[in-house]
Amino acid sequence: MKKEKEWWRDFFEKDFRPFLNILSPRDTVFQVRYIIRKLGLKPGNRVLDCPCGYGRVSIPLAQSRLRVTAVDITRSYLEELQEIASKKKVKVETVLEDMRKVRFENRFDAALNLGTSLGFFEDEKDNLMVLRRLYQALKPGGRIMLHLINRDWLIANFESRGWIKAGNSISIESREFDYAHSRNRIEWCFLKNGSTHAYNISLRVYSYHELISILTQIGFVDISGTGSIKDEPIDRSRRWLWIIGRKPGRGA
Ligand SMILES: C[S@@+](CC[C@H](N)C(=O)[O-])C[C@H]1O[C@@H](n2cnc3c(N)ncnc32)[C@H](O)[C@@H]1O
Repeated sequence: MKKEKEWWRDFFEKDFRPFLNILSPRDTVFQVRYIIRKLGLKPGNRVLDCPCGYGRVSIPLAQSRLRVTAVDITRSYLEELQEIASKKKVKVETVLEDMRKVRFENRFDAALNLGTSLGFFEDEKDNLMVLRRLYQALKPGGRIMLHLINRDWLIANFESRGWIKAGNSISIESREFDYAHSRNRIEWCFLKNGSTHAYNISLRVYSYHELISILTQIGFVDISGTGSIKDEPIDRSRRWLWIIGRKPGRGA
């Protein structure tokens, strides 16, 4: 079993990719429409998608005539993104970088962190650093959008075991909730073509009130959230959080 602290390096590159397809392209279309509507994005606006994966959202945003910069640490995902972009004849700028280290300043109208991509780092300062980097990257008036699992739902529906199949890969999870640190600690095992890879991963999970407090501390204003892309209110029955905040100042 791999125990390295930086579990996300091999986990995404080697084993997780088929499971990113569990969300259908149709679901993504609805999510992208929601993102554009909620953030009031107009053609030509600049969007930072960080981390972007294989471009699930970056590409449809670029097809909607937004100027997209897509950041991820997994090289093969960025290569796949560029292949899809060239097939669809759209341009997306890709940056191979750790999300704690992106150094854009006052450049984007919107910054996205989607698909439960916050909370990977064991040291909470690193998780907050991701949000600080996104704040820094936004123009005054620009908006952040976070989409992540709702801790209140997770606690109400906690299952200590789970499995899913994607293509010819199977993933099996054995979970323990660490209440002291609000972390879901998971022994995550992938089975494919007779071989097995196992990881010890841990994900910090957040409640709505906590995200309001964290985003406020970073400097965001006008923070709001919904529990779905139908704008339903957040409560413990909603699996997802969609959170928006604005960087103060004129513009966007
Ligand atoms: C759950 S996926 C979500 C991808 C995308 N936002 C989406 O919704 O499809 C998480 C992504 O985070 C990337 N990632 C993991 N650790 C990272 C890091 N330290 N810096 C940048 N990207 C990272 C992975 O490569 C993966 O693409």
